[in-house]
Amino acid sequence: MPKTNQTMFEIDLLPKIRQYLNNQITWKQLYEFIRQNAELRVAELDLTNRCNLGCKHCFYTAEGGEELPFEDWRKIIRKLEKHVSIISVVGKEPLLYKDVIKVLKVFDRIKKQKKDEKKQFGYTMVTNGLLLDVYIDELAKLDIDFLDVSLDGWGEAHDKLRGKGVFKRVLNNLMLAVDAGLADKIFIDSTLIEDNSQAILKLVKELSKREIKNFSIAMYFPTPFTDMFLMPSISTLLKFVKNLRKILKSIKISAQISIDIRPPIHCVYLPYLIDNKIIKVNDIWIDELGNFFVEKRYASSALFFRFSFIDPAYWQYVRIKSGEWLGSCEPLILPGTLWKQFSVGNAVDEPIEELYKKALDKPLQNVIKIIDELKKTYSKSKAFKYCLPGGFYYQVLRKGLQLGLFSKQVYDKILKITLEGRK
Ligand SMILES: C[S@@+](CC[C@H](N)C(=O)[O-])C[C@H]1O[C@@H](n2cnc3c(N)ncnc32)[C@H](O)[C@@H]1O
Ligand code: SF4
Repeated sequence: MPKTNQTMFEIDLLPKIRQYLNNQITWKQLYEFIRQNAELRVAELDLTNRCNLGCKHCFYTAEGGEELPFEDWRKIIRKLEKHVSIISVVGKEPLLYKDVIKVLKVFDRIKKQKKDEKKQFGYTMVTNGLLLDVYIDELAKLDIDFLDVSLDGWGEAHDKLRGKGVFKRVLNNLMLAVDAGLADKIFIDSTLIEDNSQAILKLVKELSKREIKNFSIAMYFPTPFTDMFLMPSISTLLKFVKNLRKILKSIKISAQISIDIRPPIHCVYLPYLIDNKIIKVNDIWIDELGNFFVEKRYASSALFFRFSFIDPAYWQYVRIKSGEWLGSCEPLILPGTLWKQFSVGNAVDEPIEELYKKALDKPLQNVIKIIDELKKTYSKSKAFKYCLPGGFYYQVLRKGLQLGLFSKQVYDKILKITLEGRK
């Protein structure tokens, strides 16, 4: 993850957030600042609602929504490329979309064109890896930046979340991808839950012996429809980091590992990482996606903590599903097509500028407004020390509660676990 030049916006946002946290400006002033300086950076596209697995931890319960024909996606991508520098193909399982390679080839052409114009553009895909063997030859011909394959631990730990025999199949496919020359492009995406930390450490150890060197570890985020106690406790994360550092010191290749602390759901981890001197505030940099990060070096490997202080939904990210413009993936935790209530418009028909303008209006205002309300009840929560935990996620939870999709008890428990953490 290269360090890049900081833009004015990135430089200014941090002090503004500090001012807000010190009660020197109101959320309205912070919101106005973001609105006036906002830049769209990343688009995530959901090509299909279908999946060939049913993982225990999966936030993605939404079954509803139409699969867009390739021509519609091409139209959307051609409009988006003028506004974002990274496009990622995600859910549910992108390799089940029949024209997935055609979509990736559009990215390839855009990337080539941008390279000629000396402009930045990259694209990635996240897959569960089950169909990699079918697509390996075609993927190897593409100029994809990263191919993310999800593995939630070595062996049984992966199967416990994803189903019996899945680990072995994905590992076989991964080795086929390495043989096809894709090792440098592969990113292993792992979701850290309470009891898979040892299995993720083993994954890093074993796969680094097999030419794979990029790993991205994300915290599990609880939903009302998944087991909220899969969320790792603070002590589990701290122990995990300690053991990971030991492994990195012994690894022969140059591994790159990132631990993603995603706001607003995971703000609670940040103060503990800072208090335990794992992250020093003065060491914070900004990557090309506008994420704040801290880099630590161990032998020839690097460990990155990637985080943010405020939810990037709507102003930095767009998620497009069935053509609908969403701020982020959170609405997809709601069943059926309820996620459509969070759409600001349709990307097939409407100009990107108008959609983005609409997104920066009411939705962003609602996202930030929740901060003040949460602060009233959770004023002692450490989550507010360096982060703004109010955001899109809490707005979606509130909608689910209003619709009677789960009880107030479940809602309160999720708020508590995300704002106070598990000891
Ligand atoms: C939703 S999946 C879509 C792509 C593909 N089906 C896969 O599994 O890689 C994208 C990533 O989100 C992760 N994920 C799913 N549910 C999660 C949750 N509740 N918390 C954190 N990450 C989650 C998955 O493990 C996967 O790495
Ligand atoms: S995590 Fe990916 S593979 Fe698993 S159920 Fe969700 S979308 Fe499907």
